[in-house]
Amino acid sequence: MNVEKIREDFHILKKGIIYFDSACMSLRPKQVIDKINEYYTEYPACAGRSIHKLGNKVEDEVDDARNVIKKFIGAKKSKEIIFTKNATESINLLANSFKFDKVLLTDREHNSNLLPWQTKKYGIFKVNNGFNIEKFSEIVKDYDFVSFVFTSNLDGYTIPAKEIVKIAHEEGAKVHLDAAQTIPHQEVNVRKLDADFISFSGHKMLGPSGMGVLYGKEELLEKMDQFIIGGETVVNSTYDSFEIEKLPNKFEAGLQNYAGIIGLGEAAKYLSKIGLNEVHDHEIKLVKAIDTEGLKVVGIPGGGIFNFNIPGVNYHEVASILDASKNIMIRSGAHCVHSWYNANSIGGSCRASFYLYNTLDEIRVLNEELEKLKKLG
Ligand SMILES: Cc1ncc(COP(=O)(O)O)c(C=O)c1O
Repeated sequence: MNVEKIREDFHILKKGIIYFDSACMSLRPKQVIDKINEYYTEYPACAGRSIHKLGNKVEDEVDDARNVIKKFIGAKKSKEIIFTKNATESINLLANSFKFDKVLLTDREHNSNLLPWQTKKYGIFKVNNGFNIEKFSEIVKDYDFVSFVFTSNLDGYTIPAKEIVKIAHEEGAKVHLDAAQTIPHQEVNVRKLDADFISFSGHKMLGPSGMGVLYGKEELLEKMDQFIIGGETVVNSTYDSFEIEKLPNKFEAGLQNYAGIIGLGEAAKYLSKIGLNEVHDHEIKLVKAIDTEGLKVVGIPGGGIFNFNIPGVNYHEVASILDASKNIMIRSGAHCVHSWYNANSIGGSCRASFYLYNTLDEIRVLNEELEKLKKLG
């Protein structure tokens, strides 16, 4: 992987910033921005309605993007790819439309995979220092649905999803994986995993904001009711009835974010060309280069995210000083996993999250700045 060459595609990196906040939002390469501009300048129309040339072009581009995403995650059919606004919307759709009795969550869910289930019957499975598959095998017997964070946005820890899915299925439970931090960083094949549903966002994988995906097995999506209805979701209507569209349109109500869909397809093409295994290895190498001496590591080390505190220095202060001194951009706080921080009596922490455009040289600068900060504690 040629990181220096990759960096040329990211205009913002020429401005002397060290961007370590990709778990929140990734940067976008020129190719994605150009593709979005292409939509707005060359064929700024709607898909699926008007049969003129511009409408047909948008329709083709949207179909192409859906096929790219299908291939990117190894789905069987493109109609199993539902475009949403973000991972949060994907999970809300699922939580409100899929019929189940009791859902099992982990104790380290992002708010987006916690709150939508809190109005249902749910249980919490503790991950602690790693995923205990034996304990899970026992506990899952009481549940018919599992919704787990695949890779944590806390620390980059990835659960053994394939084993989890297999065991859950043996016990008759369906599985949704919140893959918002997995899809951008490692190869995922939904068919090999046999996951029933996965959700993710575009803006964490070099794509535009305002775009997300819900993948579901065709037979399960077919059985689900709609969550939002209106234009595009019906074939026909009368004053007192309507006939629902087929997949995927049945879940994509109203005019869609066509520039977003097309831009997301381009982002997936870009990542495929580079190869996600290489991206993953690169991120692990970066995390390993961090000098952890004198830092309090938060969460489970081993992923492509580094979560820490400097004893005696407030996490927000650390983030502000890094930004002010060397344009190092990290995130500080509870990272939308308040429940885990509350349960562990940790007020918050610093999170440095990496991607394909970060370098070992940037880690060297981080180490130097952290060394200075440790002296403030
Ligand atoms: C693990 C995880 N799940 C869900 C989400 C929600 O994603 P979005 O805000 O794009 O809906 C995030 C975003 O940070 C995340 O990291």
